[in-house]
Amino acid sequence: MRRAVCPGSYDPATNGHLDIIERAAALFDEVVVAVLINKKKQGLFTIDERLDMLRKVTQGLPNVRVDSWHGLLVDYCREHDIAAIAKGLRSVSDFDYELQMAQMNRELTGVETLLMSNNPAYSFLSSSLVKEVATYGGDVTDMVPPIVHERLKAKLAEQS
Ligand code: PNS
Repeated sequence: MRRAVCPGSYDPATNGHLDIIERAAALFDEVVVAVLINKKKQGLFTIDERLDMLRKVTQGLPNVRVDSWHGLLVDYCREHDIAAIAKGLRSVSDFDYELQMAQMNRELTGVETLLMSNNPAYSFLSSSLVKEVATYGGDVTDMVPPIVHERLKAKLAEQS
């Protein structure tokens, strides 16, 4: 089975993430969307909230499952028989760091990285900017899946 991982913080998932997940799912037998548990970085959403939103937005994709992990991504790949890391590239500035990580990961275990060009419609999107815009009342309706939009509004209302 050809299996790939789409790793990330997903705090929260955006339409740009979903585009990459859907396209990876068309290329691989199975895609694992893996949420990094980063104990040093407090997110807006808990890991369980992120997993729940991701499960809901990917429920129409039968070969996609959602999981979380901590530690090195290459170790997660080895433990789960994952041969490739699939990620989106928004811009040239993404490329430098993504290439460095791809090379490091390949050096560590031989895992391949597939860097997919983002849909230009989403090239300005990031979870951080979406949160910032939403925090100050900007309209992010077209930037995130509807369930994420609902949860984002509720979370920000809770915090205000
Ligand atoms: O959504 P993000 O925060 O841009 O995702 C970055 C992520 C989680 C994919 C990256 O930081 C990562 O793979 N972290 C896991 C730790 C690791 O393996 N570090 C070595 C990278 S070469």
